[in-house]
Amino acid sequence: MAKGFMAVSSMVVVALLVFSIGVGIAAAQAAGLKKGFYKKSCPQAEAIAQKVVWGRVAGNRELAAKFLRMFFHDCFVRGCDGSVLLDSPTNTAEKNAVPNLSLAGFEVIDEVKAALEQACPGIVSCADIVALAARDSVSFQYKKNLWEVETGRRDGTVSSDQEALDNIPAPSSAFDILLSNFSSKGLGLQDLVVLSGGHTIGVGHCNLFSSRLFNFTGKDNPSDVDPSLNPSYAKFLQGQCRRNLQDLNDNTTVVPMDPGSSLSFDNHYFFNLKARQGMFTSDATLLTNARAANIVDKLQDPGVFFDTFKNSIKRMGQIGVLTGANGQIRNKCNAVNS
Ligand code: HEM
Repeated sequence: MAKGFMAVSSMVVVALLVFSIGVGIAAAQAAGLKKGFYKKSCPQAEAIAQKVVWGRVAGNRELAAKFLRMFFHDCFVRGCDGSVLLDSPTNTAEKNAVPNLSLAGFEVIDEVKAALEQACPGIVSCADIVALAARDSVSFQYKKNLWEVETGRRDGTVSSDQEALDNIPAPSSAFDILLSNFSSKGLGLQDLVVLSGGHTIGVGHCNLFSSRLFNFTGKDNPSDVDPSLNPSYAKFLQGQCRRNLQDLNDNTTVVPMDPGSSLSFDNHYFFNLKARQGMFTSDATLLTNARAANIVDKLQDPGVFFDTFKNSIKRMGQIGVLTGANGQIRNKCNAVNS
């Protein structure tokens, strides 16, 4: 009797296990992405993309930040579908929205696409090229891939500036806003903190943080500084952003987000953050939540940063993807197929 019960219960366990593995596989396949999607259809695809991107990044190291941000902005608006690449005759595409005006490197994406079209016409999507360019440009510094890119995305056909404005988080955002924005994309608190580490490379425009330096409570003078900023860092930033006396709209001066190592992808952002040297309110606000602050502590370890970044960017790359028969493989990345 006891034996019979054991046999039945272990059958139930096995059945549950098979069921949950099945669900797991189904969930993984639901995204329709996989490592090496082009292995058969275009075996050289990833090598070709890497060659073009590395060649360009060798000549301009700032491109890594551009492509990492381009990938983020693509994925957060309509999913990772290459919609950020589309041109609009009426200037109403995602790339025309204010947060995207400082994106760059579109011509390199076109160059990768042209090389891939020559090797394997009609096979590799522009959405995948953006994902690969982000990985390859950031990895160039280390001459080895820092993370795995799942491929198999297809390209979208719609791109709207308003959707970009609605979905790309603002640098003035407080913690709860950021968390709900990330949650709406299926990402969690840990992803928010870890992916903010992207701010270890690249630059920010003064107008996006100068109210923290000169006008935090509306007094409009250089002592009206956000108290959550490290005072010497605030002074440094004030010196960088040569203030136009009339307004805070210096939208031409840029400052490295990780001064001294803004071309190096590492966990230095998290040291800065702890030293209260996050450039944007959206950076500083990560310390205002106990769980997030705890993750910031863990990310002081470079090994933890690289490992967790791999996972979070993989999840980011799965947001709202078009796969299978959905979407299209664009002939050119800046236009839908006619
Ligand atoms: C958490 C919400 C985020 C906010 C509010 C935010 C906001 C910003 C802003 C305002 C800039 C400066 C743009 C400029 O002045 O031209 C910037 C730059 C940048 N962001 Fe973010 N960001 C966020 C998350 C991310 C994520 C998830 C990534 C990628 C993993 C990322 C990667 C970058 C990079 C690489 C740059 C530098 C771009 C360059 O040098 O041109 N950001 N971000």
